Amino acid sequence: MKSLAMNYLFYFLYFPYEQFKNFWKYIRGIPLITPSLGSITLDIDDIKIARRMLKNKWIWYNDKVVHKFEKKFALWNGSNYAFAFLGGRVALSASIYALQLQKGDEVIVPGYTCVVVPNAFHFEGIKTVYSDIELDTYGLDASLIEEKITRNTKAIVLHHLYGLVCRDYEKIIEIAKQNGLFIIEDCAQATGAEYRNIKVGNFGDVAIYSTEQSKVFTTIQGGIVTTNNVEIAKRLKEYYEHTGYPSRNYVKKLLYSIIINYYNYKDTNRWWRGSLIKLFYSRFRIVSTTQEEENGIKPQNYRLKMPAALALIGLNQLKKIDFYNNKRIEGSQRWNKWCMKNKINKPLIIPYSKPIFLRYPVLVSPDKKKDTSWAIKELGVNLGVWFIGNLHPVTRPILGCPNADKAIQQCVNFPCHIEE
Ligand SMILES: Cc1ncc(COP(=O)(O)O)c(C=O)c1O
Repeated sequence: MKSLAMNYLFYFLYFPYEQFKNFWKYIRGIPLITPSLGSITLDIDDIKIARRMLKNKWIWYNDKVVHKFEKKFALWNGSNYAFAFLGGRVALSASIYALQLQKGDEVIVPGYTCVVVPNAFHFEGIKTVYSDIELDTYGLDASLIEEKITRNTKAIVLHHLYGLVCRDYEKIIEIAKQNGLFIIEDCAQATGAEYRNIKVGNFGDVAIYSTEQSKVFTTIQGGIVTTNNVEIAKRLKEYYEHTGYPSRNYVKKLLYSIIINYYNYKDTNRWWRGSLIKLFYSRFRIVSTTQEEENGIKPQNYRLKMPAALALIGLNQLKKIDFYNNKRIEGSQRWNKWCMKNKINKPLIIPYSKPIFLRYPVLVSPDKKKDTSWAIKELGVNLGVWFIGNLHPVTRPILGCPNADKAIQQCVNFPCHIEE
């Protein structure tokens, strides 16, 4: 009760300041939002669903709705099986179970990823062996993988960052085959990207996707695991069936977070309505990764399935995903031109691939990554800075990954879906 009152007090004091600040930015044409953090694929139709869900609590845990979302996603993705959880990280945990990885096993992981990826392995006692990335698409450098393989290696995590298809896709899969290793595709940032007209995630043994707020489509928190292998699917189902739903209180917070997200990042009147919505609903806001989780501590409410209340948003987002992905591809043209003009290397689009440009990554000078205000002044956009550490956002370094170190110092990313 006390914290609620403090919350209101804080916002009543902060609110006029924020309104003035936003008004000032608005009239000077300075961007208000940081689209790298908030979803911009949420529209008013999604908000109507979230509001309806807040009233219709009886639907929240309806399995049929969730299975409909899973089936539709699998169909759209060209995969045989899909299971929806409350995060890409939980989808990864399900993959670990399904592939029967055991304590003491080793997995090769890019030394430039999100901290929740190695965490999922560490929570099961599996050792992560980091391998360096290339700087064309920020994927694993295939030429460095074989020296990392030991008797204990069981799998390789192959990721597609920023919506690009990774440079050494086929080579990495070949290495895994030759060495009897599983491929876990991390498609958290590349849902919908294609290689040889097939969506990424369908080339390895199992793939994970994320519907967290900063991704190409969103349910604010969520993740999906897919496979085309019937035996792996059986084990994924086993894991799924022994996983519970989030509490009612948490579902309520997720639904309010969707509403807050829309009014802060997408609403055309967000410069004044965004802070008003925060004023009323901020107490429900959730963070996707707590500080404790960043430090490697497993959250109590980690292993959870996606509830129907979110799957309904997912179904609606799925109707729009191709539209928004195409919008991003169009938006990337602006940065192609900018790169050419400034003689900066464009990210590589490998032959036969179709990236979806969640973001447009480029290498700039370390100073330009440290202080990104130049992008607002010169280009009118907020620049994204992920990744700021080998295991973003954790900044503790990993040895032996010089390319990753360079990317940490120099890689910034432009938004491709720019809201006017
Ligand atoms: C590369 C990568 N893998 C996995 C994840 C995990 O997804 P989630 O946040 O849905 O657990 C993320 C999330 O940001 C990511 O960027």
